[in-house]
Amino acid sequence: MPAQKSEFEKAVYEGGFRVLLTKELIAMRIDELGQQITRDYRGLEPIIIGVLNGAFIFMADLIRRIEIDVEVDFIKISSYGDAKMTSGQVVMLKDINAEIAGRHVLLVEDIVDTGLSIEFLRRKFTALNPASLKYVTFLFKPDSVKSDIRIDYVGFEIPSEFVVGYGLDHKQILRNLPAVYIMD
Ligand code: IMP
Repeated sequence: MPAQKSEFEKAVYEGGFRVLLTKELIAMRIDELGQQITRDYRGLEPIIIGVLNGAFIFMADLIRRIEIDVEVDFIKISSYGDAKMTSGQVVMLKDINAEIAGRHVLLVEDIVDTGLSIEFLRRKFTALNPASLKYVTFLFKPDSVKSDIRIDYVGFEIPSEFVVGYGLDHKQILRNLPAVYIMD
C-alpha cells in the first residue's frame, strides 16, 4: 500500500493550500521590524517574551534581526485546543522565569485573532510592574479582533481566514511550513 500523503506534502507540493505570504516576503518584513525594534529599544536591554507554541519561529527569526542586547523568555498559553475556533478561555501552561519588574518587556505573539490571548497577557504582565510593555505580532486579523488593545508592531494584517505555517498549526501540525498558507 502506498504511504499516505502528509498534510505538509499536500500543502507544499500539490497546491492543496493557497499561499498567503511567501518566505521571501516574510523575511523582508521581519528585517524591517527588527530595524524598528533596534531603534526603539537602543539602551534599554529589553526582555523579549515569546508566546508558545506559535511564536517560536517568528521569534527566532526576529531576534536575529535585532542589533542590541536582549534577553529572551517564553510563556505558554492555550485558547484553542485543537479546534479552529477559540474556546473562549485562556489557560497558562508555562510561566516565565525572568524577573520583569522595572524591565522593558516586548511580548511576541504569532497571531492576534479575537485578541483574547493578548488581553489575558496584558492583564498578567501589567500586574508585574514592567517599566514598559509593548506587543509585537507576526499576523493580525483586523476583522476578527474584539479587543481595543494597541499592537505596537504588526508583521502583516491578514483576512479572517484560518492560516497555517511559519509556526502556526492546525491540530499541532504544519508549523514547519516555511510560508503562510490559507487552509480552506
Ligand atoms: P486570539 O486569542 O483569538 O487572539 O487567538 C490567538 C491564538 O489563537 C494564536 O496565538 C494562535 O495560536 C491561535 N490562532 C488564531 N488564529 C489562527 C489561525 O488562523 N491559524 C492558527 N492558529 C490561530
